[in-house]
Amino acid sequence: AAADKGGWPSFMAKEVSEEPEAVANTLRGRVRDGQIVIPELDGLDELFVGIDRVIVIACGTAAYAGQVGKYALEQWTRVPVDVELAHEFRYRDPVIGPNTLIVSISQSGETMDTLMAVKYARERGARTLSICNTQGATIPRESDAIIYTHAGPEVAVASTKAFVAQITALYLLALHVARVRGSISATEVAQHVLELEAIPDKISQILEREQSRIEQFAHWMADTRSVLFLGRHVGYPIALEGALKLKEISYIHAEGFAAGELKHGPIALIEPGQPVFVIVPSPRESSELHKKVVSNIQEIRARGARVIVIAEEGDAAVLPFADEVLRIPLAGPFFEPLLAVVPLHIFAMGLATAKGLDVDQPRNLAKSVTVE
Ligand code: AGP
Repeated sequence: AAADKGGWPSFMAKEVSEEPEAVANTLRGRVRDGQIVIPELDGLDELFVGIDRVIVIACGTAAYAGQVGKYALEQWTRVPVDVELAHEFRYRDPVIGPNTLIVSISQSGETMDTLMAVKYARERGARTLSICNTQGATIPRESDAIIYTHAGPEVAVASTKAFVAQITALYLLALHVARVRGSISATEVAQHVLELEAIPDKISQILEREQSRIEQFAHWMADTRSVLFLGRHVGYPIALEGALKLKEISYIHAEGFAAGELKHGPIALIEPGQPVFVIVPSPRESSELHKKVVSNIQEIRARGARVIVIAEEGDAAVLPFADEVLRIPLAGPFFEPLLAVVPLHIFAMGLATAKGLDVDQPRNLAKSVTVE
């Protein structure tokens, strides 16, 4: 049954272990001959013709999935994309109209802030598409179109497998819209599809190779009072997600920053012993970005930070400056976030467990926030 931990110590542990299937099941039935076929969007091409703007609305972890998706959506469709927290969106008379596509993301499909934002957008004539993990929930019912994530029921308050499924669904949507609009070639789609299809096995590799090591150092860090997370480009929302998860279940102060922002303020926080996770972009994809993040690592290391690096296999440039290196398999530029987030989910869970906390039911929080 859905409410069964299946031998795992917590729902969260079970759900992190299901991250590979969450991606695989979200892809299932939506790829044919290397191209995207989304049965739910059959006959709905009109929805994507003539759009001049996409606004993704969501809260919390779902909004971070949206921020990751923005990079791919914009790159592949060439339509400008904004990501807005649902509760900020409708209180400022946003510029929307019939050519705006609103993409809402919600695991539960019942989050009141997101629901109200979708209704608001609809009343103003925008087109609405919902990415949701719960069949028949209110938000998809209030939308013109739906793409379900097939992560399976998520019970733990901290969202994990739904997050990777949401990014997967956004990429499917982005590739589909790009084809409808003619902004991407079939060959290019096929390449991205191959990358996506390889993700589940790569997540499994991380779980097999790194989980116990991450849990061990999370255990050693049980007394830590603050943890910082740095990322750049698609790694930036992953830094935010790593920080949110830690706050939520371990009650440790955590902040995520865009690595480039360091010198504009946050570097003042660095003192000897401060743990900092750094998500390092692939040197194969952008040597320029990679160099910049490595130089950020040098800067914080010189000020005594304890640096925990998440880097792709074979990236040797990070070795001289890292206290710990967590390896992720190679993936294309937009696909690394689906891998880099996994160690952060394991870390938050490991730390909360080491502190003896209930990882499934953190204080003050509800799984789905049905009040505004
Ligand atoms: C994530 O770990 C949180 N529990 C929270 O931020 C959550 O993602 C947010 O409340 C949105 O929920 P939803 O996806 O069900 O709309």
